[in-house]
Amino acid sequence: MTVLVTGGAGFIGSNFVLDWFARGGGPVVNLDKLTYAGNPANLEGLTGNAAHVFVHGDICDRDLVRRLLEQHAPRAIVHFAAESHVDRSILGPSEFVQTNVVGTFGLLEETRTWWEKRAPSERADFRFLHVSTDEVFGSLGPHDPPFSESTPVAPNSPYAASKAAADHLVRAYHHTYGLPTLTVNCSNNYGPYQFPEKLIPLMILNGLTRKPLPVYGDGGNVRDWLYVQDHCAAIRQVLARGRVGESYNVGGNNQKTNLEVVNAICALLDEARPNRKSPHSTLISFVKDRPGHDHRYAMDSTKISSQIGWKSAESFDSGLRKTVAWYLDNPDWVAHVTSGAYRHWIEKNYAMRGEA
Ligand code: NAD
Ligand code: DAU
Repeated sequence: MTVLVTGGAGFIGSNFVLDWFARGGGPVVNLDKLTYAGNPANLEGLTGNAAHVFVHGDICDRDLVRRLLEQHAPRAIVHFAAESHVDRSILGPSEFVQTNVVGTFGLLEETRTWWEKRAPSERADFRFLHVSTDEVFGSLGPHDPPFSESTPVAPNSPYAASKAAADHLVRAYHHTYGLPTLTVNCSNNYGPYQFPEKLIPLMILNGLTRKPLPVYGDGGNVRDWLYVQDHCAAIRQVLARGRVGESYNVGGNNQKTNLEVVNAICALLDEARPNRKSPHSTLISFVKDRPGHDHRYAMDSTKISSQIGWKSAESFDSGLRKTVAWYLDNPDWVAHVTSGAYRHWIEKNYAMRGEA
């Protein structure tokens, strides 16, 4: 009853694998290339667990994928592996096309070839669950209704376009070949183990070290925040009960402007590391905007809640408090991920931004 997880050393993937075992889930083969975003330290809690097989490799390596399918005969694939950061996709889109489009295609094609040779009952029980994003739907105006599963796809960044391309391939593999696929399109996640190039961990760590808090544009862009373990629960539930060939939107029902999020982080840091003369919000610095910056995302989760019964457990206030506490409690993890290549990225991304 093995599950093949791709990208399980990244932020959401590692939370998923840890939660999976914490809930008594069966064996996992975890295929991860360990890019800058993949971190074996996220999985330290599984050391000595023989049911977790970590494979350091690339989803684009089709021979490897073929071997893993034949060797482990998984009952499902949960596909997280991707290049995931919008700003990196703007500065260098080719890796995004390679992993997110070509890699997903190779994974689908190897899976189809293997799956077609299985016995009918195994074919029927198999699932390919693709983890995608709300960004494929483009950007909402201030008064638009949230994205639903029938919202037309309109990606705006190279990252979003590469994820939309992957979503289309997944859909086509179900429609054409009958591969039992499922897709989850989720809003912005936050929580433990998130690489600090993304808004929330970046602001927590910059605040802790009293560096500027770089808010793009006027800070009015809106995201719909979901605690990562709520996303993992949605994935488990869709895997168990989702209708094959369908997609499910997942959101936190927590629409916040970036400035609201940064101010909430500052308030928590003021509690943890008080400095009455200079509260953390004095570090906020408005910088040059992201090109093509999507104004607003919001997800309508009606389908997953009415069809499958999923709902989020964590409020934004409680989830953010836990997240700030996690970064404060894990200085070794932080020191490891913020050394070396991370510093080059920060210099590259923010040097060109300056003050707005
Ligand atoms: P992440 O960047 O933290 O992790 C990605 C993982 O994939 C890393 O461990 C990396 O080493 C691995 N990887 C990258 N290229 C690979 C390749 N070619 N072969 C094998 N492994 C490879 O990303 P995340 O934030 O955990 O996102 C996981 C998935 O969820 C992505 O598909 C992303 O598009 C999607 N998603 C993310 C969010 C979010 O807010 N972070 C929201 C919705 C959907
Ligand atoms: O919506 C889901 C998506 O959320 C996922 O598919 C992506 O993988 C994930 O990276 C995330 O994309 P965003 O671009 O929304 O996340 P990011 O954390 O990069 O930025 C969140 C918002 O904060 C966005 O409006 C840009 C802004 N921002 C970001 C950074 C890094 C800043 O203002 N300053 C910053 O330094």
